[in-house]
Amino acid sequence: MAAMPEEQHANSYFVREIEKRDGSVLKMYQCSKGDVGCVVWDAAIVLSKYLETEQFCSSQTWSSKKAVELGAGTGVVGIMAASLGANVTVTDLEDLLPLLELNIRENQNLISTGSITAKVLKWGEDVTDFLPHPDYILMADCIYYEQSVQPLVETLKALSGPETCIICCYEQRTVGVNPEVERRFFELLLQDFESEKVPAERQDPEFNSPDIHILRLRHRPS
Ligand SMILES: C[S@@+](CC[C@H](N)C(=O)[O-])C[C@H]1O[C@@H](n2cnc3c(N)ncnc32)[C@H](O)[C@@H]1O
Repeated sequence: MAAMPEEQHANSYFVREIEKRDGSVLKMYQCSKGDVGCVVWDAAIVLSKYLETEQFCSSQTWSSKKAVELGAGTGVVGIMAASLGANVTVTDLEDLLPLLELNIRENQNLISTGSITAKVLKWGEDVTDFLPHPDYILMADCIYYEQSVQPLVETLKALSGPETCIICCYEQRTVGVNPEVERRFFELLLQDFESEKVPAERQDPEFNSPDIHILRLRHRPS
């Protein structure tokens, strides 16, 4: 453990291990206390494992691809993409930056040809720092908060170029405001983007679920 007192580590963090297809293991630090971004959500596991499927990797390579992850939380999705060779920027609110940086340090040994950095990006704010447009925008479990729907769609529009593929993974929830938040998000998003659902048989055979969906989205040609 670099740059963190053992005691603080023992009291505040717990680790989730995610095994890659090649047998190496991502070690994701999660916080015992904190906001929703402090733990690895199931949608992030499903998306991470999809990124390394043969289906995905045989049709495109991660090598030298530029990816930006939104609402990265612990950063597991971005770290997986970087370990597969992508040049990744993981982003979240300022509070999550220390956790993202910790997880990057702890998994740096799995990143050889790719690269990864963590930056603050609050949805709806200026994205100039993240241009030129990335090849991929990755997002897991980011559709859950009423007030964030419009800023999130604005960020997706501003960050996407004609060649950008957004890979959006979300857990469909049926309680409270969740169905309405989802409905509103897709209503806004699909005004400008074409969406294609990734069927279960193209996802990881073990890490998939009927409640968790993966969509590939592209900006409609104007
Ligand atoms: C449910 S968590 C998902 C975290 C991670 N992607 C995962 O699936 O494990 C939602 C993430 O979105 C981030 N988030 C929420 N509102 C945001 C905003 N306005 N701008 C940027 N990030 C935001 C949160 O900080 C949190 O990390």
